[in-house]
Amino acid sequence: MRHLIDPTDLSVQEINEIIALAEDIIANRAKYSEVLKGKKLATLFYEPSTRTRLSFTSAMLELGGTVLGFSDAASSSVSKGETVADTVRVIRCFVDIIAMRHFKEGAPLVASQYAGIPVINAGDGSHSHPTQTMTDLLTIHREKGRLDHLTIGFCGDLKYGRTVHSLIKAISRYAGIRVVLISPEELRLPAYMLEEMRTSGLEYSEVSRLEDAMPELDVLYMTRVQKERFASEADYDRVKDCYVLDPEKMALGKADMIVLHPLPRVNEITREVDNDPRAAYFRQVENGKFVRMALIYSLLKWAPENRPFERTPQLAEGLQVGCYRCPNPVCISASEDVDQLSIETSEGCRCAYCETILK
Ligand code: CP
Repeated sequence: MRHLIDPTDLSVQEINEIIALAEDIIANRAKYSEVLKGKKLATLFYEPSTRTRLSFTSAMLELGGTVLGFSDAASSSVSKGETVADTVRVIRCFVDIIAMRHFKEGAPLVASQYAGIPVINAGDGSHSHPTQTMTDLLTIHREKGRLDHLTIGFCGDLKYGRTVHSLIKAISRYAGIRVVLISPEELRLPAYMLEEMRTSGLEYSEVSRLEDAMPELDVLYMTRVQKERFASEADYDRVKDCYVLDPEKMALGKADMIVLHPLPRVNEITREVDNDPRAAYFRQVENGKFVRMALIYSLLKWAPENRPFERTPQLAEGLQVGCYRCPNPVCISASEDVDQLSIETSEGCRCAYCETILK
């Protein structure tokens, strides 16, 4: 059974094929209008969403399928204390594929171990957001005509911004990628991401002023400071206005640079920038629906006919059970009775659910 929990669950060739499929869907909408007739998608959203949930819904409807689910965990039996593992063992009886967003890091991975049908991670805490990454890759491909030999600036909340983590993991597998990390000290990338970039040999630099990075960028990826992840309002207030992209800063960028943002935005991009043709963030939203159509279609095509219960975690290379307890309080392993899984990497041991470095 194939799932999409992390962007690296797809090979580079598969990513390229899904992007090509999304392009074909855009060009030939009618051809795909009934390909998933009779199939059902469950959208299980434990955290707020506008784009991701509605684009999954719209994607499934455009493929001829139907959708059920919840957009607020309080209205489901989760409010009575039902675990992720039990919830998906129930939902699997009603649908063919699941898209899950959860505030606990690693929750979609747990779901994939129990569902026996494809599970798509629609965002887990500050950890990962692979379908946003596919949206970003399709947008870069459509706007720039390539996914290699690009200098990409990531600006803002690189600590809690899950879309940044996933996109860096995915794009670093293409040739000639340079990354410029633009953040205040408090919002630097998590240690596991910096370690991963060093190990993979990705060329990167860190700066604190957006103005210094602007002239060299092909893609500027702006992010919102993720208020909901901060321990206190005071911590958030200290960094909330750290970067504001305005026409003055846009004037420092290349004529063919593009600006992406996973949205929602708060104040990090002024409204005047929306009128600049290089602002691609609303085009990016529409691409999200087409790439999710391609993903749902592909995962269902790859799924076996029977629906085995996947009780036992697949012990991929390097994965081990019962090694260390994860100290991350927002990791799913802190609140649910899950197998204590860790991954042995060349640099040490990490939690399999949230990737926190364990030793
Ligand atoms: N980009 C993104 O994940 O948006 P939503 O939170 O609205 O789904």
